Amino acid sequence: MYPTAVNDPPDQIAEAAATLKGGGLVILPTETVYGLAADAANARAVAAVYAAKGRPAFNPLIAHVADIATARRIACFDDRAERLAARFWPGPLTLVLPVRDPEAVCDLARAGLDTVAVRVPAHPLAHALLEAFGGPLVAPSANRSGRPSPTTFADACEETAAAAAAALDGGPCRIGLESTVVGLLDEARLLRPGAVTRVEIEAVIGPLSEAEADARRSPGRLTRHYAPNLPLRLNVTEPRVGEVWLGFGHDGAEPFNLSREGDLSEAAANLFAYLRAADRSGASSIAVAPIPDSGLGEAINDRLRRAAGFVG
Ligand code: TXA
Ligand code: MG
Repeated sequence: MYPTAVNDPPDQIAEAAATLKGGGLVILPTETVYGLAADAANARAVAAVYAAKGRPAFNPLIAHVADIATARRIACFDDRAERLAARFWPGPLTLVLPVRDPEAVCDLARAGLDTVAVRVPAHPLAHALLEAFGGPLVAPSANRSGRPSPTTFADACEETAAAAAAALDGGPCRIGLESTVVGLLDEARLLRPGAVTRVEIEAVIGPLSEAEADARRSPGRLTRHYAPNLPLRLNVTEPRVGEVWLGFGHDGAEPFNLSREGDLSEAAANLFAYLRAADRSGASSIAVAPIPDSGLGEAINDRLRRAAGFVG
């Protein structure tokens, strides 16, 4: 049974905050994807999130906070973190930093690491709930582990509503792709490409080092992390009979053209919803047109390679 949808902010935000205080889980819209939120300090609530997602317990979660002052209380900010936060928060950037308050984001949420991932989301409902709650909330994408992230309220409910005590309906997610994760432990590293591009980050803090050497620190980057049920073929310009084709640009692929205009932001926003729709279409497999690797294309291609099972 689905929890009641929340469309009437003030009361419902207070109710959702109370649910979280009591250790319950809440489906939460953000500008990137829907999250399944829990009190980051409450290990039992965090365990319930892992259970709802079927997520390996070694995969650490992002602590979402209302503002930079709260972020500074839980994580140790250096100059690079200050500059990135000033430029991109609130917004789709997550910083991995040394943990300052290990109680505020419990060991289980950090998967036992001495670091913490933190972000200030831009969605008004997420912000309102974080303010009302008054502390960090973990909020992994609201999908079950290994499935595409939900970008609509209905998809989020289909994935994990059974485990949630409340759900906030914030409409379709504006960005549709998870936040960029940048590690600032020694060298700055791009741990997960996302909505803020490499070029945009490098414009603020200079060149990023390759993430591969640091792979153990981003255990979220597993093979088949974003997989639909059907087999997926990439860089396809000629789909096979019986295959559903996700197009890009003026290649005639209908009805699932990620962006007819060849706009990478539009393609990112459509990506997970189209993968889900393609999965339900009755086709034998999914083919995806080539997507340019520039700008947001790096994150889109990263998700697609994972969904196809190519990245270890
Ligand atoms: O856009 C988003 O970030 C969404 C929305 C709901 O906010 N949330 C999200 O959370 O994608 P999640 O838990 O699905 O992704 C967390 C990512 C994983 O790749 C994880 O490995 C990485 O962040 N991460 C978290 N803590 C980390 C840490 N201490 N060190 C390295 N990577 C970490
Ligand atoms: Mg996820």
